[in-house]
Amino acid sequence: MDKKVTSSLNEQINKEFFSAYLYLSFANWCEDQGLDGFANWYQVQAQEERDHAMMIVGYLQNNDEHVEYEAIKKPASSWDSALDVLKAGLAHEKYITASINNIYATALEAKDFRTTQFLDWFIKEQNEEETSAGMLIKKAEMIGKEGNGLYMLNQELASRVYTPPTVAE
Ligand SMILES: [Fe+2]
Repeated sequence: MDKKVTSSLNEQINKEFFSAYLYLSFANWCEDQGLDGFANWYQVQAQEERDHAMMIVGYLQNNDEHVEYEAIKKPASSWDSALDVLKAGLAHEKYITASINNIYATALEAKDFRTTQFLDWFIKEQNEEETSAGMLIKKAEMIGKEGNGLYMLNQELASRVYTPPTVAE
């Protein structure tokens, strides 16, 4: 495989693990505020991020490429409101989308169509991530800071259940 493609995929593994770490930090903050539904939402999200990392690990290994784990940087740990957490989540997903797009462009340049095909799943996934993060922000803005609305949104987010990714190999 092209060196630039493999190094950017290795970097993406770290970014996905950092995403998991960031979402676990969101979950901790939410838990501290009594927003246990939000905490559940982000714990499930963190599990998905770990899956994303491991999908890339598996892909590199299946292509006989070396996987190198780097240190995961410390995530932020406090926010001003639940809305701020949701906004930080969307901003982070946009950063991840840009990163995936860059790897896609690198793979395309290297005529590595196997990798572009592998990344198609991630491109679609990022669209879903941004849509759901954006939707949560709209809902949070709709209810404002009122306790009742926030409580209801918290209940809604409590129902999210983890399901492993389905990937067409
Ligand atoms: Fe991800």
